[in-house]
Amino acid sequence: MDNATITAAVKEFDSPLYVYDSSKIRDNYKQFTEAFKVEKLKVHYACKALNNLTILRLFKSMGSGLDCVSINEVQIGLKAGFSAEDILFTPNNVSIEEYEEAIKLGVAINVDNLTTLEHFGMNHPNVPIYIRINPHLMAGGNQKISVGHIDSKFGISIHQVPHIERIAKKFDINIKGVHVHTGSDILDPEIFVKAAELVFSVVEKFESVTHIDFGSGFKVAYKDGDLHTDMEALGSKFSQSFNEFCQRQGKTYTLEFEPGKFMVSNAGFFVAKTNVVKQTTSCTFIGLDTGFNHLIRPMFYNAHHEIENITNPTGDKKVYNVVGYICETDTFAMDRIIPEVRKGDLLMFRNAGAYCATMASNYNSRPRPAEVLIHDGKVHLIKRRETLEDILATQVEAEIEI
Ligand SMILES: Cc1ncc(COP(=O)(O)O)c(C=O)c1O
Repeated sequence: MDNATITAAVKEFDSPLYVYDSSKIRDNYKQFTEAFKVEKLKVHYACKALNNLTILRLFKSMGSGLDCVSINEVQIGLKAGFSAEDILFTPNNVSIEEYEEAIKLGVAINVDNLTTLEHFGMNHPNVPIYIRINPHLMAGGNQKISVGHIDSKFGISIHQVPHIERIAKKFDINIKGVHVHTGSDILDPEIFVKAAELVFSVVEKFESVTHIDFGSGFKVAYKDGDLHTDMEALGSKFSQSFNEFCQRQGKTYTLEFEPGKFMVSNAGFFVAKTNVVKQTTSCTFIGLDTGFNHLIRPMFYNAHHEIENITNPTGDKKVYNVVGYICETDTFAMDRIIPEVRKGDLLMFRNAGAYCATMASNYNSRPRPAEVLIHDGKVHLIKRRETLEDILATQVEAEIEI
């Protein structure tokens, strides 16, 4: 992705702007699928990371399925052309009505609590389901994205497997899959192997299981020298223990994963314009035409995003605090060394493909940015910029005397 292409895209579609690179997404998908040497592999791309219809069509064209956490994500997946069988619905704490809708749509359903399991038993014993196990493993880059530990709200405790067995037996439930997801940005690859051993011990108890889903959590690098998952090494080690398990069981299971970040994080770039360069008594702020309403990860997770000055890449390096225009502390980066930034310069944030545009909001009544995809050398608009009319579209002025 070169600076000239991105600058031209901003000229055409204005700033701030999300820019995605389809070739990078293709490379990531290829690298991922080639890492696992098993008979049956299925990827369900976690579309919460980036749910644009055109991006979803790209995943479909590569043979991916989808992991969806809400019924609207399921509907978006169907609209993008995925068949119901290629969609796994993995919600948490949703209503029975939402599960019922998913049953009607025919997607695979992942059940993550015993009450819902009983509901399926009493009302839909023949609908094949996955069960989500909480393995009680602490994993994930920070507390907000660690979801497989004992205090986490996700999944059915591994210690409750006898209870699952009792319910499944009573209602003759068709448990087709066992699922585990321990978190995102997992630093220690051994966690995957450990989780696998625990999951295998659950799978052994249910003859009907044909699919084993290990969720995701693959760590990507946000800057030079960052730890990241070595997919080839992990794939090789993981495939070996998976194949050994299949052999022991005398059965070929389908190995499934739900990567989000690994697929799209480094394929996305967020570009914003410098409104103000402001020197204070303690530092120099760069004030951008955006804020945590458009890219919340630094404020929400303390996430690091590399920032480049793409309109003055060879300028003298200086130290800046990069901030947004939102009406409260709104910091993208502190003490960051960047080539000299002048009013009007475009700053580009890297790793803006996952959990950036999909987490954007209208806070401070700011429209969400446009999004473009660079595909086969051309820039395509895949989401237009919002307008004030969009922001007001759902408001209803009550007919009351005020
Ligand atoms: C159930 C489940 N699967 C997959 C993912 C995707 O994780 P990642 O983006 O780290 O690949 C998540 C992330 O929240 C998740 O909750």
